[in-house]
Parts: sequence; C-alpha cells; structure tokens
Amino acid sequence: MNHHFSTQAVHAGEPKRKPYGALTTPIICTSTYTFAHTAEILDMMRCKAAGETSIRDEYGRYSNPTQSVAEDKLAALEGGEQALLFASGMAAITTTLLALLSSGDHVVMGFDCYHRTREFALTFLNRWGIETTLVPVGQSEAFATAIRPTTRLLFAETPTNPYLRILDLRRFVRVARQHGLITVVDSTFATPINLRPLEYGMDLVIHSATKYLGGHNDLLAGVVIGPRKLLAEIEYVRGVMGTISNPHDAYGLIRGLKTLALRVQRQNENGQRVAEFLEKHPAIERVHYPGLASHPDHELAADQMSGFGGVVSFEVRGGFEETARFIDRLRLPYIGPTLGGVESIIEQPAALFSLEREKREAAGLKDNLVRYALGIEDAEDIIADLEKALACVSTGDRGQGSAPRIVPEQDEMLLRQTSV
Ligand SMILES: Cc1ncc(COP(=O)(O)O)c(C=O)c1O
Repeated sequence: MNHHFSTQAVHAGEPKRKPYGALTTPIICTSTYTFAHTAEILDMMRCKAAGETSIRDEYGRYSNPTQSVAEDKLAALEGGEQALLFASGMAAITTTLLALLSSGDHVVMGFDCYHRTREFALTFLNRWGIETTLVPVGQSEAFATAIRPTTRLLFAETPTNPYLRILDLRRFVRVARQHGLITVVDSTFATPINLRPLEYGMDLVIHSATKYLGGHNDLLAGVVIGPRKLLAEIEYVRGVMGTISNPHDAYGLIRGLKTLALRVQRQNENGQRVAEFLEKHPAIERVHYPGLASHPDHELAADQMSGFGGVVSFEVRGGFEETARFIDRLRLPYIGPTLGGVESIIEQPAALFSLEREKREAAGLKDNLVRYALGIEDAEDIIADLEKALACVSTGDRGQGSAPRIVPEQDEMLLRQTSV
C-alpha cells in the first residue's frame, strides 16, 4: 500500500517486530559482526558474488542495522530505490563525486551552492584532473552551454544557498539526457516534503541530513538516494574511504524523520510570514524568498515545489557593521551556521566566510546579507523580535565597513545571555 508522507516518515523502513519487542529501533553499537562458522562466511561471499542486494552485515565500515533502517526510511521518503547514509552532507557529496568521476572528466556545477562543495570541485577534483565549470543556477540554459565532450555530470543545489534560486529540474534533466549525463541535486534546503527531484527524472538526490532531516541540531549525517545501479559504486567507495555514518546518529535521524512533515510545514509557514514582514519593512533593502512574488524564480518554485522552505535571506539597509549589530540585537535566534533544526538560527554569511572583502565579493556574498533559518517557534514571536531589532537600524545611507571589527555593546551581550 502506498502510504502518505507522514505515515511513511513514522513507519517506513522499520519492521513491526523489533528485538525484545521494543517499539523503537535499537542502536546496534558494534564495529564488527561475527560468524558462527566458516560456512556462514562462505555463504555470505556467495551472496555477494551473485550480486544479491540484502547481504548480512560484515563490518561496521560497510553497514550497520540501525543505519540500514534510516536508509530504507529515507529511500521511501524520496521515492528512490536505495539510500546510502554518510557521516555528513559533505561526506555524501565528496564520496559521490569521487565514485562517479575519473581523471579527464568535466563537471558542470551550479555556482551558487554550498561553498565547501564548490571548493571540493575547484580545489580537490581539479588536482586529480577533473575540471569544473560553474554556472548560475537561475539560468538553466547556462548548463547546456557549458557542456563539453568530456562532461560526465551535472550538479546543482535547489533552492540555492544563500540566495534561494530555484533550479528548473525539467530543463536540467532534458539537457542531461540529450548528452547522456548523470544528474545530481543537493536538495537539502527543499527536503522531500517540498520537492521530490526523482519524480522529475533526476538520477541522484543528496541531502545534508544534518539540517531538516535530522531536524534537532544534534547530529551530522548525509544521504544519497537513487537507483541501485548508480549507488553500487558509491557504496563501494564509501566502504573504502570510511565515510559512513554511525549508529547513534542514524538513530537520531530515524527519530527526527518521524516529525519531518510537521516541522517543515511549520517552517514553511514561518518562512512565508517572516519574508512578507521583512519585505514591507523600511530597514530592509531586499528579501530573497521563493514564496514572494518579487523573487525571480517565484513561478518556477510555485510550480515545482509544494512549499517554499524555512530559510529567508535578506539585505539590511546598511553595511557590515549595521547588519552585525542588528543580528546581535535579536534575542530569539541562535547566531551560527546551519539550518533546518527546531531552533531558529541566524547568520551574516559574510562574517563567517572571510575577513577579506575581496573573497566575500568573489563568492557573491554581500556584507549586508542575512540568512535566517527559521525554526518551529511561533511566527508572532519571531516577528516581534525582528521588529524590535530593526527599529534600531537606520533607514539612511549604507556604511562602508570594509574591515569588520564588531565589539558587542554591553547591553547587547546582556540581552543575548538572557533567555527569551
Ligand atoms: C546545501 C548544503 N549541502 C551540503 C552541506 C554540507 O552538509 P554537512 O554540514 O552535513 O556536511 C551544507 C551545509 O553544511 C549545505 O548547506
């Protein structure tokens, strides 16, 4: 029976009868698995040689029963044949690219993606003779134009980080199929609640499960979902490199996934309400949120996605210092990187990226840009907090602020230390 999303999130991948009659999936804490006798080993080896898909566990760097449950649940939620769990989103991305590419290959990658992914392609893949061309995600024809005879793979994020541009999946897949290329999408910002890339014909979907899928800012994990024939090589490389997850994080992920639909629904609502509030505020120069009609990809997002997500990026009227001061005045969100958890978290991407203005500009990060990753708190409280902090932002000219030297004022520090 084909269940709806939340039913799958609660039950998929989990046998009804578990060890000891426990309701929850146990954390199987073991580095290896033992065999009763040699015949059992030989039996496993014969299953492997025959290419059977469900082989018993052999060693912790290859698989773990708690992790397998999380993988089956994730495969069900994305509508894929199989899922592979990794130690982090970056472990999933790097292992996938290393498994699928060889020296001499070329990749076309969306420029506006997580900066470590870009860095991996430009610095590391390049070192091994794999070239990457970066193109803007908002211009789907740019992917087609960048294709060379040696191109093997197209990679993009949607929505992108931090400007939330939307990849046109239909066009992306059409171009890839014309040239026989593998398509990979990092769908971390979307979640399977808001977007199901495999239904558009994408080959592989990747998530940093650290974000919405785990949902509680208490674990690191990554996942790749797709057809078995593509995942086989990735699974092999994961086993060689040891980029696999661990049973504790797999357990946290299984628990987090059960409430994914509820959390994302609330985060979508919070995103829309906060974006609409900010767009009307005189201290805000620009809001980047695909749920707003002013967003360049609004129509595409409305057609392709079933929710616009919980991240709102916006530009404060002012420079680096004014933006930093505004963030420091907020009482509700935590300040830091990451997104997707139940707690709201805010960051000034320029501050975390580099102290050098040139590097920030090259990465397309404006000094006055703020990325607000909304949690599941009440929108009224989030907006009241924003309203208070924005009241102190001058609506006049922007400052220069080339060398960020922010010293928190005494009262601001006190404010942040006081619980809401
Ligand atoms: C879109 C996206 N993909 C991948 C990653 C990397 O994930 P992780 O931190 O789990 O390695 C991040 C952020 O960290 C991200 O924002």
